[in-house]
Amino acid sequence: MVKVTVPATTANLGPGFDTMGMALDMYNTVEMAIHDSLVITVSGEGESDISLNETNIVYQAAKMVFDQVEQHCPGLRIHLHNEVPVARGLGSSAAAVVGGVVAANALLDNPLCEQELAELVTKIEGHPDNVLPALLGGVIVAGWGKDKLLYQKIVPGIQIEAVVAIPEFPLATKKAREVLPSTVSFQDALFNVNRASLLVTALITNNLQLLAEVMEDRLHQPYRCTLIPGMNEVIENAKAAGALGVVLSGAGPTILALTTDDSKQVQTVMKEVFEAHGVKCNIRVLKPILSGAKIDKS
Ligand code: HSE
Repeated sequence: MVKVTVPATTANLGPGFDTMGMALDMYNTVEMAIHDSLVITVSGEGESDISLNETNIVYQAAKMVFDQVEQHCPGLRIHLHNEVPVARGLGSSAAAVVGGVVAANALLDNPLCEQELAELVTKIEGHPDNVLPALLGGVIVAGWGKDKLLYQKIVPGIQIEAVVAIPEFPLATKKAREVLPSTVSFQDALFNVNRASLLVTALITNNLQLLAEVMEDRLHQPYRCTLIPGMNEVIENAKAAGALGVVLSGAGPTILALTTDDSKQVQTVMKEVFEAHGVKCNIRVLKPILSGAKIDKS
């Protein structure tokens, strides 16, 4: 039996659409063992909604590993315990994909190396910005090269916390991608190149002042605000309450505010402004973490 613990993630970090993401200290676990049939059980977040048959994402991801190394996929007993809320922009599907792939690779005695795991999870998920920090921890910057996935982990030295306001309603990534335009203006593209580059620089040089000014975006947030009541107001008010940068987490609907010290005021404002727009939300204070998926084998 293997047990894999996988962290939540926040993708995009504002301007780094489909390119950057960060691991957070909230976890899902996947227990997996060879069995005579497929048996899936779930506890925690999504326990009454997650599919328990062959369409389950964790199972499908595990099967991709068996297929890739040309091994017959046997029956599996899988138990999932989820802390990451489903379809809220905190990487629940990435955690499922990474959990399935890493657990199956461990069951097979690790035939796939890190680069192969990174490429497989990215192909399954469609973009690297959630799956890679879930796999490797820290902040990851990534994108496809000509024939391989290019990625680099950044280990920021700054002490920051992430206040997340998690709305009660789910938002499917597919729906949040459907509102995006197929082309953008040269000015907006330039704006994001500029901000994403400055953001990476701020993280590498631990420049909090710069970080606070560069988590802006013109490629996805302006379109997605139509799906999330109060989104722009929550962002503006959290900034005014002292947050460094405030962004949509992944495809939303969660909003994430980076803070340094006492974040009480930011927490209160985010909850109040969402509620003023009729959105109930759960506030959590998470810490960025440097390690990704961990394996326990017994
Ligand atoms: N980069 C993706 C998006 C993350 O914003 O659509 C969601 O999985």
